Amino acid sequence: MIKTGIEAMSFYTPHRYISLATLAEKHGIDPEKFSRGIGQEKIALPGHDEDIVTMAAEAARPLIDRYGTEGIDTVLFATETGIDQSKAAGIYVHRLLGLPANCRNVELKQACYSATPALQLACSYVARRPDRKVLVIASDVARYDRESSGEATQGAGAVAMLISADPKLLEIGAVSGLFSEDIMDFWRPNHRRTPLFDGKFSTLRYLNALIEAWRDYGENGGKAYEDFARFCYHLPFSRMGEKAHRHLAKSAKAALDMEMALPGMLYNRVVGNSYTASIYLALISTLENSEDDLTGKSIGLFSYGSGATGEFFDATVVSGYQEHLFTQHHQAILEDRVPVSYEDYVELWGTPVAKDGEELTFEVEARGRYRLAGINDHKRIYVDTRA
Ligand code: CAA
Repeated sequence: MIKTGIEAMSFYTPHRYISLATLAEKHGIDPEKFSRGIGQEKIALPGHDEDIVTMAAEAARPLIDRYGTEGIDTVLFATETGIDQSKAAGIYVHRLLGLPANCRNVELKQACYSATPALQLACSYVARRPDRKVLVIASDVARYDRESSGEATQGAGAVAMLISADPKLLEIGAVSGLFSEDIMDFWRPNHRRTPLFDGKFSTLRYLNALIEAWRDYGENGGKAYEDFARFCYHLPFSRMGEKAHRHLAKSAKAALDMEMALPGMLYNRVVGNSYTASIYLALISTLENSEDDLTGKSIGLFSYGSGATGEFFDATVVSGYQEHLFTQHHQAILEDRVPVSYEDYVELWGTPVAKDGEELTFEVEARGRYRLAGINDHKRIYVDTRA
């Protein structure tokens, strides 16, 4: 059977954040509630000239620079925070990256889950066409109502993955465990900028979906708990991943070893929730922050999207994977960031909305190569500042 999986992956997050200590002080909350109870330190904040498109292009740029565009004939863009009801965000990214015109392009949606079916569809496709590659992008801005229980779990980021029949990082296993149910734990009707959610209920349904997907994975011939060296979870906040890992170990009647999940949480703790990108940020964090050599080791992944769908699947780390990581680039992105005051956070939180075709021009805030210069006549104007 042809091996398929992730040839390379890279992430991007904006250069500004609010510290949860600042948020706690402003709201008179014990900061330990956020640092330990939620397990988060920072919330990444896009400027008004940054969005899911600019973050996606920034995330994908290093992949294109290192591996080229040859063979890429499909862009799958996963997001929960789409910018248009009709046009796929990947079309803008396709132009910004200079991808070949002979390319299919589509956007996928199912809350935080949709990058996982994108990855699975891409693997199936390149198994049929091993000369082709698929660019899978997950990009989201997790924005909750201010002073809601979700406020501390905001964030923003994008992950880009090159999927091919020459997986230099991770081979994706063919077995999945699946679970879907129709529930209202978190959703965002078309007329709303922020989601509606039932926070506590959503955490319980997440854990239930994990166990149901894990059971299905086992029944479909998946690996045993003991076969895994690491686990990655969808991380709306890192404490959710800790709960998930404890729950899974208990269900598998295995001894709890939190070290199997912790390397995956390091980046998410300082980025915040990035919805579709979150589990793949955890995967990058695992590869880049595990001290031991992971060659040949199995990683278990649980992807969850409210509403709800869960999927458990596995990846095997490929020999020589270290040569295909972007660790220094990623750490530079995280280190070269600046904290903002509560007042600046409030200003950034209120992204202007162009009504009735009015013209909006955005000041240069983005530090990356790509930015949203403005909106005019209902059209978003993205620019490559190096073109
Ligand atoms: N020191 C240390 N810990 C403290 C503390 C303190 N001073 N004060 C409180 N805590 C602990 C609490 O004991 C609690 O721990 P447990 O979960 O172990 O009980 C934890 O901090 C959180 O405290 P609360 O339950 O009081 O917090 P909350 O009312 O603010 O709600 C939440 C937590 C419901 C998860 C909320 O953050 C939320 O609504 N988040 C948005 C929804 C969400 O992320 N759901 C996750 C599943 S759905 C999903 O995954 C999809 C997605 O991306 C949205």
